[in-house]
Amino acid sequence: MEYKENPIICNCMQVSLSDIDNALHQHEKFSSVEEEFKRVQEATHCSTGCGGCHDKVMDIISQMMNGMLH
Ligand code: FES
Repeated sequence: MEYKENPIICNCMQVSLSDIDNALHQHEKFSSVEEEFKRVQEATHCSTGCGGCHDKVMDIISQMMNGMLH
């Protein structure tokens, strides 16, 4: 997925919206938001610094899973 704007979501680890998208779409089937968060975190290391982006990342992942964010 291409984004016109690709904001940095996690400042600590410099993880952008498309990084999260790519990590999320490495597999076809989604499980829970928590599970997907773990996978995205492993792939991108987002939210492993100050943790301040945790809710934002969770929100983005759930929106992506629901096909609401394109
Ligand atoms: S902004 Fe993501 S861990 Fe600090």
